Amino acid sequence: MKKQVLVSGGAGYIGSHVTVELIEAGYDVIVADNMSNCDLTCFEGVKKITGRTDLPFIKMDFCDKAAVDQLFTDYKIDAVIHFAAFKAVGESVAEPLKYYSNNLISFMNVLDAARTHGGCNVLFSSSATVYGEAEVLPVTEQTPRLPSTSPYGNTKQMCEDILRDSVKAYEGIHGIALRYFNPIGAHPSALIGELPRGVPNNLVPFITQTAIGKRECLSIFGKDYPTEDGTCLRDYIDIVDLAKAHVAAVSRMVNGKMEKEYEIFNVGTGRPVSVYELVTKFEKVNNLKLNYKFVDRRPGDVMAIWADTKLANEKLGWKAERTVEETLAAAWAWEKHLAENR
Ligand code: UFG
Repeated sequence: MKKQVLVSGGAGYIGSHVTVELIEAGYDVIVADNMSNCDLTCFEGVKKITGRTDLPFIKMDFCDKAAVDQLFTDYKIDAVIHFAAFKAVGESVAEPLKYYSNNLISFMNVLDAARTHGGCNVLFSSSATVYGEAEVLPVTEQTPRLPSTSPYGNTKQMCEDILRDSVKAYEGIHGIALRYFNPIGAHPSALIGELPRGVPNNLVPFITQTAIGKRECLSIFGKDYPTEDGTCLRDYIDIVDLAKAHVAAVSRMVNGKMEKEYEIFNVGTGRPVSVYELVTKFEKVNNLKLNYKFVDRRPGDVMAIWADTKLANEKLGWKAERTVEETLAAAWAWEKHLAENR
């Protein structure tokens, strides 16, 4: 019988790509989302890509404890991937309680339902933000976490800890936290991709929206960092590669391959790329000129971070495969698809 995976926040950017890869790897997927930060565009795209017109979709809020419990009663869930969370760093500073209540309560509801329904494999979507401004690069999973500068970052650290403590205390719960670096790009079909509401906070959607004419000019935050070209360094991971890391982590859990009941993996490429490099690569691969200017540093940005990916490569048998150029071409194809279809 096929294993069943619940994807909370499954209609969003990362959740939709993960759903596609899970289905293609032979899993049954239940998508659940409260649609607070997305519409049905990506869910419809997932159905088209996979041909699964009957893909279950449940509109629900994971802060609703009774609804989460009902879901675990209605379905036999072998693994849950928890994406349902708010993710805007700046907003979290302005509205910390919104972030703490949503991000923590929804995750605790999942764990409690897992506990009371006889256990479950739980994959938590964490972030490289837990490392802060690391002293030694690249960062390994052993690199100490640093105090977060935002409530958003705090919720990632707290959820990791809640998962670690829960697997220790409750029999039958196993957990993996994946620490994402900078996910970018879109599915090669251009049927799903990132769909930010309002002005994008992140670099690549801002680039593609500038290229299509939705935004006038990209601001590059900071030209005076002590890096080769003066701009920040990040580890940009292709969204399909990232999604495949989830499939590898889920199969490690459901096939009983974990070496400890709680494991952490970095999900990145291991390659640092500067903001300026990314902009010029985008121009080159898509054969266009982007309107951009250099402005002051953005408060809270770390200068440089990239992943040591050895652990994920060895233990998950996973490796990022797509080149930055392929990823930037896919991001642009998605933006053009949106312009033609919305
Ligand atoms: N940048 C610009 N202009 C923009 C947007 C971003 O120059 O319009 C720069 C940033 O200064 C940074 C780089 O592009 O140097 C990447 O910025 P993003 O906002 O795309 O990503 P971050 O690395 O800041 O954010 C990521 C994750 C967050 C996480 C954060 C913690 O997306 O979830 O790391 O540092 F919280």
